[in-house]
Amino acid sequence: MKCDFKKLTLEEKIAFLTGADAWRTSSANGKFHQVFMSDGPNGLRMQNDDGSTKISTAMPTLSLVAQTWDKELAYLDGETIANDCIENGADILLAPGVNIKRTPLNGRNFEYLSEDPYLAGVMAREYIKGVQSKGVGTSLKHYCGNNREMHRFTQTSEIDERALNELYLRPFEIALEAEPWTVMCAYNPVNGVFASENRQLLYDILRKKFGYKGLVVSDWGAVHSPYKAVRATLDLCMPCDERYAENLKMALEKGYITEEDIDFCVGNILNLIEKTKNAKKKINYTKGDRHANALKIAKGGMVLLKNEDGILPLKDGGQYLVAGGLSKEPILGGGGSAFVQTDYKQTPLAHLLKDKLPKAEVEYSGEPCRSRGDCNRVDVQGAKKSYIKAFGKDAVIIIVGDAHESESYDRVSIKLDPEYVTAIKAMARVNENVVVLLNAGSAVDVSEWIDDVKALLLVGYAGEAANEATASVLTGETNPSGKLTETFPIKLEDTFTGSETGDGFSEWYNDGVFVGYRYYERYGIDVMFPFGYGLSYSEFRYDNLKVEKKGYCDFIVSYDITNISEKDGAEISQVYVRDVFAMVVRPEKELKGFEKTYLKAGETKRVSVDLDFRSFAYYSTAYSKWHVENGLFEILVGSASDDIRLSLCVDIELPDDTQQSQY
Ligand code: GLC
Repeated sequence: MKCDFKKLTLEEKIAFLTGADAWRTSSANGKFHQVFMSDGPNGLRMQNDDGSTKISTAMPTLSLVAQTWDKELAYLDGETIANDCIENGADILLAPGVNIKRTPLNGRNFEYLSEDPYLAGVMAREYIKGVQSKGVGTSLKHYCGNNREMHRFTQTSEIDERALNELYLRPFEIALEAEPWTVMCAYNPVNGVFASENRQLLYDILRKKFGYKGLVVSDWGAVHSPYKAVRATLDLCMPCDERYAENLKMALEKGYITEEDIDFCVGNILNLIEKTKNAKKKINYTKGDRHANALKIAKGGMVLLKNEDGILPLKDGGQYLVAGGLSKEPILGGGGSAFVQTDYKQTPLAHLLKDKLPKAEVEYSGEPCRSRGDCNRVDVQGAKKSYIKAFGKDAVIIIVGDAHESESYDRVSIKLDPEYVTAIKAMARVNENVVVLLNAGSAVDVSEWIDDVKALLLVGYAGEAANEATASVLTGETNPSGKLTETFPIKLEDTFTGSETGDGFSEWYNDGVFVGYRYYERYGIDVMFPFGYGLSYSEFRYDNLKVEKKGYCDFIVSYDITNISEKDGAEISQVYVRDVFAMVVRPEKELKGFEKTYLKAGETKRVSVDLDFRSFAYYSTAYSKWHVENGLFEILVGSASDDIRLSLCVDIELPDDTQQSQY
């Protein structure tokens, strides 16, 4: 039943347009249900009255969820967090964030999904479906072009029309297929206009072009001018903003806005109130189940980046040293609004390894000192002791981390803190069998030490089940199957933006559509680990690629994957499209499909991926719409962006009147 708000007074209508407090909508003097919103993408982050954070399940961060490339696990992640939301009365989960990882320095990359818009959009879509399946709404954020934390309140993201559509809007466009109850506008201006009052973004594109029917909420404190926000169709300003009544009355008197403009926003708010009030909320996981789900996702998202001489999985009966305070207290997630307070007690990694390898000898050493408390002292004596312990071991497992990832600021380097590098290299001098565990939420420069170690496992920010997942992968109980969703460059200077942060007023996105692997491939820049890369304890063979034409641009791509090893595992196959000849510059290839296939030892499965018009199209600024040029396209099927196993060409012949004239 739609609320008949025509009976509301103007004051009551205006009161709806801004929060009643930090987290709730207005009740119009008790007449309406108040919608309660709460962060965050990696688990419920709800504050108690004393400012502390309520206990909830610390799920792996979205960067790790994306590294699973598993749509079902993204759904499970959302569903699990929704359980904590229901238990604590939250109607809307302020997540997921889908901003493109344009620079590895961005402080919130741990909260985001990928450098690739298709992967980010698809995984966010499934996450939203999971949350909303439990009657809890979501907030797709931060719309748009919020790709740094530094200067985020003031600095314009100056983005050309093609890059805006192909990269920065695209993950939102795909995720909107899940019909998120709300979309959150970003703080930053886009092309010179604050997102909160950017009618082109909020109305012309989001509502008219993308057909979004839900509510647009501001990021917290992102509204600069109440009436300009209303005019741009920003429905709800959060948190409570005392300026609204006076500012809107002035704007009405001056004719800057009309009462219909106000009614449009109030209507969207009342629809959201109805939706949350009538939602069928259903808890389906116990606290133990939620932890188990966190573990399942963490296991599926860790990425094995190096494994020389098959040093992993660790063998039972071996002698091992676990080094580093983070092995007792790993970094579970990043800082800011995505922080989650869990009460789950980590079991030290050394103990877990001992449990899983009963015949093994597992020693522990606290060095390198860095603990989650981010100690700054290096205990030289302690370090020396640990190097002595390392002597003669079958493997030394050293965990290092990057505790600098948070909302509100960016990293200034992608290198590890020096004491970590010193410890890794010192260990490697004592023992050649060093296994590094990287506890980080975004790309790290590993170039100083990667050649000194035998194995590197990106454990990521894996949430409260971190150590259990790490132990499971290290011992082979879990076959690692995660793959990178952002490129690991060799060094920061190899990235397009380098250490550039903008001047606080505007940052010109003059990399255009060439972001991430699109950039490195176009300019032939070597990387340390490419997009889509990740090792397994198994090996997979790809065969029998077929491409079946179903329409002008509709194809079914299918191929066999065989697990040619003795160990059950999972393979993430990626389908890229290359426009062989185009009248515009285009990336070397673009991800347009992927599947994660679980295969028993020796098993073969046939995988199929559908391609459609948008799989081949670029955004034409000449036609102001997505456009496919007739001609040859290559379909590339691979295990990573630089590891193409199968390929075929298709010839697209759309009707002549859709094409520009030939020479
Ligand atoms: C923050 C974040 C946003 C969060 C909101 C509420 O500033 O940018 O992601 O949901 O405010 O905490």
